[in-house]
Order: sequence, then structure tokens, then C-alpha cells
Amino acid sequence: MNEHFKAPPIPATLPRESATFDAYTMSEIRRAAATGIYDIRGAGAKRKVPHFDDLLFLGASISRYPLEGYREKCGTDVVLGTRFAKKPIELKTPVTIAGMSFGSLSGPAKEALGRGASAMGTSTTTGDGGMTQEERGHSKTLVYQYLPSRYGMNPDDIRKADAIEVVVGQGAKPGGGGMLLGQKISKRVAQMRNLPEGIDQRSACRHPDWTGPDDLEIKIEELREITDWEKPIYVKVGAARPYYDTALAVKAGADVVVVDGMQGGTAATQEVFIEHVGIPTLAAIRNAVRALQDLGMHRKVQLIVSGGIRNGADVAKALALGADAVAIGTAALIALGDNDPALDEEYRALGSRAGAYDDWHEGRDPAGITTQDPELMKRLDPVKAGRRLANFLAVMTLEAQTIARACGKSHVHNLEPEDLVALTIEAAAMAQVPIAGTDWVPGLTGRF
Ligand SMILES: Cc1cc2nc3c(=O)[nH]c(=O)nc-3n(C[C@H](O)[C@H](O)[C@H](O)COP(=O)(O)O)c2cc1C
Repeated sequence: MNEHFKAPPIPATLPRESATFDAYTMSEIRRAAATGIYDIRGAGAKRKVPHFDDLLFLGASISRYPLEGYREKCGTDVVLGTRFAKKPIELKTPVTIAGMSFGSLSGPAKEALGRGASAMGTSTTTGDGGMTQEERGHSKTLVYQYLPSRYGMNPDDIRKADAIEVVVGQGAKPGGGGMLLGQKISKRVAQMRNLPEGIDQRSACRHPDWTGPDDLEIKIEELREITDWEKPIYVKVGAARPYYDTALAVKAGADVVVVDGMQGGTAATQEVFIEHVGIPTLAAIRNAVRALQDLGMHRKVQLIVSGGIRNGADVAKALALGADAVAIGTAALIALGDNDPALDEEYRALGSRAGAYDDWHEGRDPAGITTQDPELMKRLDPVKAGRRLANFLAVMTLEAQTIARACGKSHVHNLEPEDLVALTIEAAAMAQVPIAGTDWVPGLTGRF
């Protein structure tokens, strides 16, 4: 062999991460192997699923004409509970605050939600763990949740509320219950829930006294009697089989149906639940609306949609698909100050980072929102946080209104599926609108 021969360098192949076994998946396998316990976290599904971003509005042109922003009216008000309740809820915006439990959230956070929502003329909702004075005192319109766990359930509080929401399930965990770890069971939380201090709690996955839709009907009747038929009764379900759930809720006597998609946030539950159970919000709306239409109840029984709603475009799209209003949880917490980049160092000290912090159940939230720690709680100024939430709600409402005007509508409720197109086949099939530039609506065959 020629001693001067030098083999050319072999080009190195780059190390390649597996799409199946990516870094996150492998870290979770290692964590599970080391601990033997499943992962619990808060927030909603983090993986990408078809969503409102996959839809676009067409806007007006020659065949439709738009409305002028400063001169022509475009209403945003909504009335909820017109079916049976003597006192329906009147809101100035179709964006409401979803139920978030006292226990998962601090007292100041509850107060801030009440302040922000009331300033914008919309409602807040209690949650697992009962009604706090902070929340009732600062919420002009407060919806009281009647939950499977019955933690903090108090008939006097039911009478103090403006509406009742019977929770059957949540989008983050249809068929499952929530968690509240001992770290967050302060003396006050324990007293309100009638459970021991400092001990982990699991919320029930189903109501103890019913086994089916007939029992739901009886429960709704009981609640109507307690409230003298004054207050609207909502039924909230996690999106799984929205057509049948909506139809059964209507049959049981609901005034309002709330459908919460799989991206919907939770205070805490198993990660496997959050990511793998339930269907995307986008896939739920048209089926819930179809159930209402088939029963002749669309717009008579109102539909509230939640799960991953972040801005006025999402609101407008949910309304165009047939919802009467939306509810927000995670976005409201971010508006209050949750996951603020200014706190990044503190989130990193907890093994997370701003924008990814979801260990809401551990009670160490540096923003003072998902904690019961007296020192951390003091960090949240409910007046300032409430103002931020009010600003955010105002922006969402204005954005939805702007889109409605651009589509030539004098009320946000006049938006309709005809105003929308989809960017992907999946979104088109789920939202039942055509793919942009075509008149093809995949998946309709055999369904109507
Ligand atoms: C911190 C937190 C606590 C929650 N607590 C409750 C609860 O007590 N009862 C309930 O029905 N839903 C609860 N939820 C779910 C919300 O009501 C709502 O369905 C969900 O947050 C909507 O999705 P979004 O967070 O993407 O807006 C909670 C959500 C969060 C983020």
C-alpha cells in the first residue's frame, strides 16, 4: 500500500433523535423508572391537535359588505339561561371565566378573577372547594359549581350564586377526577372542604348519587327547587361524545350546556389523561350544535365552549361554529401574571421555566396564583391583576367584534360556519367547513 495514501475523512452522520422516542419521552421513561409513580401536572394538552388556528375567516368583499368600525354597531352581549330560569344571566361579552377551584387557586387570584370579569360585565365561576368571600364579593355575576366531589358544597352558597353549573366532567380529564396535593390543603382549604389539613385529596370522577341521565334530571329539578326556578342551570361535560352528551343534558333540563375540549386546563391530574383522553375543542362544537339543532334547541339552550381559547379570533371562530359564549381558564391565569417571563429564574429553580410551568399542584407558584402559601400569595396584587384581566377581556371582545364587522355582521352571534374555511383536512372535517379555495368538506358523507 502506498505509504503516502491518506483515506478521505468519513463524513459524520448527525446524531438523530427519534420522533417516537424524543427527548421528552425518554426523560419521562427515566423519571417513571426511577420513581414508580405516574406524572401529575396542571394545564391542558400540550401536544398539537387541530385547533382554531387551522381555520380562517373569509371576510367581506363584493358579495358581502363589511361594517364600519366607528359608525356601525356590532353587539357582543349574550343572555344565558333563557330556557327555564326566571332570572337569566345577562353579559356584555361572550367571554366568561371558567370554574377554577379555590384550593388550586389562591384567595387573591379568585378576587382578581372577580374584579377583572366584573369590570368587563362578564361572569366568573367557582370550582371544586366551594365559594369564597373574595370571589362572591368581587364578582357581579358568579356561577356556582355543583361537582362530583361535593367539596365545599353548601346550599346557602347555591342561593347566593347567580347560576348553577352541574359539572359532569372536564375536557382535561373526561371520566376522571382531579388531584389536590397536601401542600395546598391549608387550614382554610381543609375547613371549606371538610377534609383533613395537609393530606392529598382526589376529587371524585362521578356524582355519588347518580348512575345515568335520569338521575341528572332529578338533580337538576332539586337544584331548581332550592333556587326557586330563578337561576339558570348549566351542565358541563368534557368533550368525548358531545352529540349524545348535549342531547342528554338538554333532555335532563339544562338551560346551558358547557362543552370543554381536550386542550382545556386543569389544576392537576395525570399527564396521561391530559394528553390522551377526550377530543379537541374544534371537533366538539359542531356536534354539540347539531344535537341542539336536532332538538330544535339551538339558541334556546345556550352553548358555552371552552378549552384552549386564547384570543378574539378563537372566540369569533367558536361563535361562528354555533357557540353562544366561551369560557377561559388558562388564558385568564396568564393575564393575571402566571408564567410571567419576569419570574423565569424562580420557575427554573423549581425545575421548570416561564412558559412551561405547569406544576400548579405543588403550591410553589412564584406568581402567587396557584398556591396557598401565605408569603407567595402576597405577591399577587388582586387589584392590579384584576385590571390586567379586564384589559385582556376587553381586547378579546374587541378582536371578536372586529372580525364580525369584517364579515358584515351587526352582532358577534351572526357569525356562521359559512364565514369560515379550513387550512387542513383534519380541521375541515372537525369543524365541518370547506378547505380554503375549495367547496370540499371532508367527512360529511353519511353524517347528515
Ligand atoms: C387552575 C385550574 C383549576 C380548575 N378547576 C376546575 C374546577 O374546579 N372545576 C371545573 O369544572 N373545571 C376546573 N378547571 C377547568 C376549567 O373550568 C376549564 O374547563 C378549562 O380551564 C378551560 O380550558 P382553558 O384552560 O384552555 O381555557 C380548572 C382549570 C384550571 C386551569
